[in-house]
Amino acid sequence: MCGIIGYCGRKPAVPVIIEALRCLEYRGYDSAGVASLCDGELLIRKDAGKVEEVIQKHELAGLPGNVAIGHTRWATHGGVSQLNAHPHSDCGGRVAVVHNGIIENNQELRQELTARGHRFSSETDTEVIPHLLEDELKNGRSLEQAVLSIAPKIEGSYALLALSLDDPGRIIGTRKNNPLIVGIDDHDYYISSDALAFSQYTGQVMGLEDNEVVVLAQGGIHFVDARGNRVAKQARKLDHSWAVSDKGAYQHFMLKEIMEQAQVLSRIVEQDGKMFTEIALDILRARQVIVTACGTSRYAALVGRYLFSRVGKKFCDVVMASEFGYFADSVDKNTVVIAVSQSGETADVVEGVKAAREAGAQIISIVNRPNSILTDLSHRVIYLNCGSEIAVAATKSFLCQLAIFYLLAFSMVNSFDAAVARLSDLAGDITRVLDWNKSELIKLSDRLQDKTDAYYIARGINFAIASEGALKLKEISYVHAEGMPAGELKHGTLALIEPGTPVVVICPADYTFAETLSNAIETRSRGAYIIGVSDRDSDIYDSWIRIPEVDELLYPMVAVVPLQLLAYYIAISRGCDPDKPRNLAKSVTVK
Ligand code: F6R
Repeated sequence: MCGIIGYCGRKPAVPVIIEALRCLEYRGYDSAGVASLCDGELLIRKDAGKVEEVIQKHELAGLPGNVAIGHTRWATHGGVSQLNAHPHSDCGGRVAVVHNGIIENNQELRQELTARGHRFSSETDTEVIPHLLEDELKNGRSLEQAVLSIAPKIEGSYALLALSLDDPGRIIGTRKNNPLIVGIDDHDYYISSDALAFSQYTGQVMGLEDNEVVVLAQGGIHFVDARGNRVAKQARKLDHSWAVSDKGAYQHFMLKEIMEQAQVLSRIVEQDGKMFTEIALDILRARQVIVTACGTSRYAALVGRYLFSRVGKKFCDVVMASEFGYFADSVDKNTVVIAVSQSGETADVVEGVKAAREAGAQIISIVNRPNSILTDLSHRVIYLNCGSEIAVAATKSFLCQLAIFYLLAFSMVNSFDAAVARLSDLAGDITRVLDWNKSELIKLSDRLQDKTDAYYIARGINFAIASEGALKLKEISYVHAEGMPAGELKHGTLALIEPGTPVVVICPADYTFAETLSNAIETRSRGAYIIGVSDRDSDIYDSWIRIPEVDELLYPMVAVVPLQLLAYYIAISRGCDPDKPRNLAKSVTVK
């Protein structure tokens, strides 16, 4: 949610910021803006709209200066408008701030500042920061001292960058519970929510701990702790393979990410068997195991729950991360908490994990982004290794999460190597399922494009794929969709089935086939249009999405892929942008 970027160095700064904003757009795309320091002037340009629109409308490329900051916004406090776009400034227009996160006590701070005569021009929580800094600077503090002095007054989570005419030539950054990473290339310094934003210039990075402050100046860089004491840092190398953000020949990142799933799955052989066996033992020994996650990651966890039970004979519960806190009382040192998150920065997941860690639980995280907030909080980390996922809708990360749960379950019965071999073979099935269905899915999307509702049903281990298929459709096509266990349909939802209502039935030829099909027949009797996702054809399907015959525990992995592609094509035929669905952002760093 919101991407921030700063650059200080020898190059013209704004072109660097513009390129970075394009990379960061996945974090929010309802407004954008930049602030640049040049010849005693603070130039701020910002507006509502996608990054490209703001760049063109305000001719950002022409802004001078070697020190600048920028922002892409996903609105939380205050509507989508030019005034609410970042950077935000103080009363005199001498300070500029970009921020990602939530200032929880912003109302109190705003009242105090207003009482002291400050005038606010936006509805955002962020704007209190430049006004607080203004007071500190007026008292003769440097910008670094000002940031250090206001940080304890701010409650909530933040990553922020500030620059000021009163202390020119430098950018000050700090963070608490939100990501911020520094890039260094000789005397060129970059700072951003995501290293992707500057990975084209440098692979040398330095992290920032919570409450640390970094000063990027034209002559050098330094870090201090919350008390202002210098902190020594070593640069480390960025994994460039992770930082690629090119669409290649594809029209959208989502399509590219769907299509590269066979390839990313084949990287499963790189996982460390010894670590999986150790983690599997911890899971087996734990008194209770709770998996926490949101959205698509939670659906992967639901498949994992079946795998743990079926293979490892270990029951675990899956708790939606936003609800996890309400169960915190039962978490203790005999609990293993598995946190699943592509981004590693989803606020609900991070908060739950912090609470569980404080209660003594062992934290295992399954993440994609290296060096995320979640990885720092975890005792053990399993990486998905699927490369950067840019489209807001998760696709390849979901497939890899399923693969990780599969490996964990088989590690519980000492069969890691066999599981790796089976998953490696599955890469060919993923390619096949895409080849078999591509043209049929395009036709089907034309047929379904005007539908207002769709229902997805499945049973057992495949049930979560129904929910995931429905989530993909609703988030990128804005079609109401529900996924549910097929047996649950007649307890209410069946009332919504009308002639022509699409019902996607995930019924591989496994232990769930007969009963799922019989539930599908119940909907067909009410006129539903049946889309069967199966390796076995049936007279009751109006459309058949054919999947290959695989081991019954692997059906979720081959069934989800055509459902991702179906959602993609429906979004295209409805004129929606699948990479940037309305109201959503890739990283949800607010609660
Ligand atoms: C849906 C989607 C979201 C995320 C959810 C959790 O396609 O991408 O539902 O799965 O916001 O995000 P992570 O996995 O980053 O914690």
